[in-house]
Amino acid sequence: MTSHQHLIDQLRKICGTANVLIDGDLTAWELDWRKRERGKALAVVRPANTSEVAAVVKACAAAQVSMVPQGGNTGMVVGSTPDASGQQVVLSLTRMNQIRTLDAGNLTITVDAGCVLQTIQEACEAQGFLFPLSLASEGSCTIGGNLGTNAGGTQVVRFGNTRELCLGLEVVTAQGDIWSGLTGLRKDNTGYDLRHLFIGSEGTLGVITAATMKLYPMPKSQLTAYAAVPSMEHAVDLLGLAHEHLSAGLTGFEVMGQFALSLVVKHFPQQRVPFWESSPWCVVLEHSDQESEAHARECLERLLEAAMEQGCVSDAIVAESVAQAKALWHIRESIPLAQAEEGLNIKHDISIGVSRIPEFVRETNTALLEKFPGARLVTYGHLGDGNLHYNVQAPESDDAERFLREEEEPMNALVFEVVDRYQGSISAEHGIGSLKAHKLTQHKSPVALGLMKSIKYALDPHNLMNPGRVLEI
Ligand code: FAD
Ligand code: MLT
Ligand code: ZN
Repeated sequence: MTSHQHLIDQLRKICGTANVLIDGDLTAWELDWRKRERGKALAVVRPANTSEVAAVVKACAAAQVSMVPQGGNTGMVVGSTPDASGQQVVLSLTRMNQIRTLDAGNLTITVDAGCVLQTIQEACEAQGFLFPLSLASEGSCTIGGNLGTNAGGTQVVRFGNTRELCLGLEVVTAQGDIWSGLTGLRKDNTGYDLRHLFIGSEGTLGVITAATMKLYPMPKSQLTAYAAVPSMEHAVDLLGLAHEHLSAGLTGFEVMGQFALSLVVKHFPQQRVPFWESSPWCVVLEHSDQESEAHARECLERLLEAAMEQGCVSDAIVAESVAQAKALWHIRESIPLAQAEEGLNIKHDISIGVSRIPEFVRETNTALLEKFPGARLVTYGHLGDGNLHYNVQAPESDDAERFLREEEEPMNALVFEVVDRYQGSISAEHGIGSLKAHKLTQHKSPVALGLMKSIKYALDPHNLMNPGRVLEI
């Protein structure tokens, strides 16, 4: 008998006994994707619809039990798993996985929050539309989690973050009320835009239960190129040329450092990784074209010719088939998985102005290797958006657990000090979660933190929605 037996009984009544998990192996809900922290849930509750979510929130609020909204549990900052107290309810949205409507005329789709991203992409494609949000975790992350983190991914350079793709939300508030804001409107200036409060709030203000998202026409052609570039300066020059030559057709621009690629070669030897031995950096870029495949190829080849003439590309290939394009993207998408295979690691998901990235990398590499000799830099990411995954693996001879325990804080301090000087952000896409909540206090202005706390207090005065995440309250 737990001290919250009455609450458990109520939750069972609302969602059915089979959907209130309190014992057995709850690893899938209690351990974060990076295996950084293992929590303990009072219960994992799996509602089937918005009314059930509202009833669960009301019951938890009445019992003063805090809740952790969870989607696919692929988050990188320990934000979707419970703390170790055994007193938090995990509110898993994965049973809410219906596509509600696709409005072809309005170019919108309305989906339940627990829909897996890839399911949405495929449903859109089947009707001739593109839903451009794309991340390596798309087979398991959910649109609710994407909205909760304002996820970025590989198409931001053209389509923006999840926030830019969202036209409306349905939300269960911290009090258990349902806010129905599922408009497909592209223009609406009737006061504060509530949707933007919940997007990127990491489950700390309410539970997103459904969303209306923007669609785009499927491009006639999508071509992928993969290029060896002699330096980060050259990668930035190539990006400038790509904007010039491809304009809005530039739909992806990712950079990958040599050591990052070597981890893919080591852990996924079946993959063929071009140029990694001969070049310090490689770029994968995508060109989407509304005219024809021939036109797309001509534009891309002209770009690569110009880049070679200017010396910013030393070698390049253009995928000849969809399968080849997928294989090239797969190399890039395998980097975080290869890093996980290599062992525990430190992630710096930072952004700064694109033009200053080469200088940032030079300066930070030098300072970091001086202070932490042997640290292995796994640098890659969304260069088109000025977002680098400036990650670090422990020295090969070192124990990764010890390295993280003793070196993570001083290493973060070093990297984030440079980020601040470059007027960048300490989290471009993964968010704050509990891993970086103490860092937010150091890197946001007191005014910004005060405003954030006012919003939190107004929407969740009893601090029941994902407490300790984002804001240290
Ligand atoms: P979860 O991990 O379950 O939750 C994440 C946060 O959102 C938590 O704070 C949670 O409380 C909150 N949340 C979840 N659902 C809801 C809801 N319905 N309402 C309110 N709050 C909610 N991220 C990127 O931005 N770009 C990338 O390119 C990228 N690549 C990745 C690659 C890999 C291999 C992996 C494992 C992760 C990657 N991520 C990336 C991180 C992660 O996939 C994203 O943050 C994703 O948006 C999380 O979705 P999820 O459903 O797994 O959310
Ligand atoms: C990615 O872009 O692959 C992820 O956001 C990076 C990461 O896992 O560090
Ligand atoms: Zn990323």
